[in-house]
Amino acid sequence: MPFPLKIAVRDEALAGLYQKELSELAGLETPAPLTLILDSGKVSLAGSNAAEAPVLVDFAGGALDYRRAHGGGRHSEGVARACFGRLKNPVIFDGTAGLGRDAFILASLGARVHLFERNPVVRLLLRDGLRRGRECGIPEVLEITDERMILEDAFSVTLYRGSVIPDTVYLDPMYPERKRSALVKKDMRIFHELLGQDADREDYLLAVLAADYRKTVMKLPKWAEIMEPERVNTAVITKNHRFVVYAGSGRSDGGV
Ligand SMILES: C[S@@+](CC[C@H](N)C(=O)[O-])C[C@H]1O[C@@H](n2cnc3c(N)ncnc32)[C@H](O)[C@@H]1O
Repeated sequence: MPFPLKIAVRDEALAGLYQKELSELAGLETPAPLTLILDSGKVSLAGSNAAEAPVLVDFAGGALDYRRAHGGGRHSEGVARACFGRLKNPVIFDGTAGLGRDAFILASLGARVHLFERNPVVRLLLRDGLRRGRECGIPEVLEITDERMILEDAFSVTLYRGSVIPDTVYLDPMYPERKRSALVKKDMRIFHELLGQDADREDYLLAVLAADYRKTVMKLPKWAEIMEPERVNTAVITKNHRFVVYAGSGRSDGGV
């Protein structure tokens, strides 16, 4: 049974800033009861478990900022090894931007990342995280969020009509949960409550492959079956995931 998304406005200035985005959320239904909260200059999403802190995008603090400052670099981040190849500053289309964590890691390692996200709640969380990143006063985070992470108006790579041709298209769709829910990270749990799984992930991959970009990378849990195995070029394996690399000719003009 779907639930109408609740919106709790405790910061009128923020609501004014996101008037257009909020009007797009009117009437939205989600698989579980969720509340979008606008409070103290931040947009966050609360799940059905009231004891858990709401999820928000925070590029300027917490785990992501720590990973930026102390992370192992492009040779130890699986996502970067798969997406960069030998390029130092690739242009990457993140076709499943989500909360922008992978995009932030890629951008902090030197990529220019165009973000595509179709869910309007996730887009708003992301937009708000990018805004706070630009205003946080940390020069490195400002540079990354202002210059190297571009949230596109097109909801998907397949709808992009701009002139940029990426070196890599990166896809990280939602898979069904396998682990016991207590073991799944809180933000992923709320994400599952919001989105369920991306059942059309194979269609998305096929449409992107048809566009013949230079490289397409698909992240999947280790247990998941590799799609289009005969077209796979290589894979980067990490503890829980595979980053499967499909090579194209790179002749795409961005259309499909
Ligand atoms: C697992 S999350 C991505 C997490 C992201 N890599 C991160 O680091 O935060 C998958 C996201 O992709 C989005 N998505 C799935 N299929 C999509 C499509 N065809 N077009 C645009 N967005 C899509 C979903 O709405 C969801 O927000």
